[in-house]
Amino acid sequence: MSGVRITGATAAEIAASIRDLVGAGELRPGDTVPPIRDLAQRLGVHRNTVAVAYRALVGAGLAETRGRGGTHIREVPRFPDETVPQTAEPEHPLPGLVDLSSGNPDPALLPDLSAAIARLDYRTQLYGSPAVDGRFAAWARESMAAAVTQPLSISVTHGAVDAVDRLLTAHLTRGDLVALEDPCFYASEGTVRVNGLRAIPVDLDTSGMRADALRTALNAGARAVIVTPRAHNPTGVSLTAERADELRVLLAGFPHVLVIEDDHFSAVSRRPYRRITPPSTRHWALVRSVAKFLGPDMRVAAVGSDPTTAELLSTRLRPGATWVSHLLQQVAAELLTAPDAPVLFRRARSAYARRTDALRDALAAVGVETPFPTDGLNAWIPVPRDSGPVVASLARAGWSVRDGSSFRTRAVADGRHGIRVTAARLTARDAWTFAAAVARALD
Ligand SMILES: Cc1ncc(COP(=O)(O)O)c(C=O)c1O
Repeated sequence: MSGVRITGATAAEIAASIRDLVGAGELRPGDTVPPIRDLAQRLGVHRNTVAVAYRALVGAGLAETRGRGGTHIREVPRFPDETVPQTAEPEHPLPGLVDLSSGNPDPALLPDLSAAIARLDYRTQLYGSPAVDGRFAAWARESMAAAVTQPLSISVTHGAVDAVDRLLTAHLTRGDLVALEDPCFYASEGTVRVNGLRAIPVDLDTSGMRADALRTALNAGARAVIVTPRAHNPTGVSLTAERADELRVLLAGFPHVLVIEDDHFSAVSRRPYRRITPPSTRHWALVRSVAKFLGPDMRVAAVGSDPTTAELLSTRLRPGATWVSHLLQQVAAELLTAPDAPVLFRRARSAYARRTDALRDALAAVGVETPFPTDGLNAWIPVPRDSGPVVASLARAGWSVRDGSSFRTRAVADGRHGIRVTAARLTARDAWTFAAAVARALD
């Protein structure tokens, strides 16, 4: 470190000089910057000037202070980076295995996209068109109006993951803490890390996110929280009315915290939506994507939010992707408002409920517990030890499941392991065969 030449007479110049040295590779992650007193003496400035420069670097996520250990340059994840979890479900399981790992909906339960496109009365769009399709926005507004009492603005993003990404980067700066469910949808954790934010894990129980755990995260300085109100991925748990009330009361004491509700299973969920955003929260978003009931290729989500957040979202969209294709928005609106939509969604909802319940019943019959009340496509099976060998043993028996460690927001060192099983296409007969294989793998 001593050979590195930091320059500057003001805090901003000193911070910029250190950033340049990091950019040039002369300062690397883990390197210590000089003690405040030494650098102040060397540059002939007041100690406070150097302290302000270091604080700015810490605030920007470029450095961290370890008390007496000094100030270090931080490792900021870049993409692609193997330490960053995948931002989507993995491609396909090994050939020859029954796929219980993909997190995909059952294609047979999705509406007919080609038919919707054929009957679409597509209206040509040119530069300057409004970013949001009126019909899609009307569906979103109607679907949210009953639960949302705050003034509601509608934005459109390329799916839920894109919404979370834009929301976090609109409101937070590098190094900020984001409270995430543990375990959580790994795309959310990936988004947090790719943006140089820090995840702070919040435990769940059978009623959803735990209020005491969220309180700890908020007291530790979390600037945002991402909650899955129902059909949590990977556990399947949904918030109970009591738990949602508790979280809402708690969040009322932290009005500066950005609250993101990722309601990804909305139209085919068997649980009601329980809102956790209190009226006092300044910035919030309710994200409703359609991947789970119109198909993952429908890269479109409606975001209901406070007006400032909507403005920030559109400011970020305009100079880049400009808008979400009106073709997509119009097809989504067509499918969501088609006369047979309620019937199709009801059919999908009851098929997923039946299949996940059959899986849990079969597992219970062989003594394997699935403690979370399930909604969605998946069931979560706690495993008493490292889940890797259980996944491998099931693969040898012909089944592909997801190792739960990929959903954890911290290293699995706390003795809580599990596997996620996607039951979206599981037949009742296969459920019994699979349950027997799980019992053997856990033996
Ligand atoms: C919690 C959660 N949110 C969102 C999504 C879907 O995101 P997107 O709309 O970007 O496909 C999923 C898909 O698995 C999910 O599990």
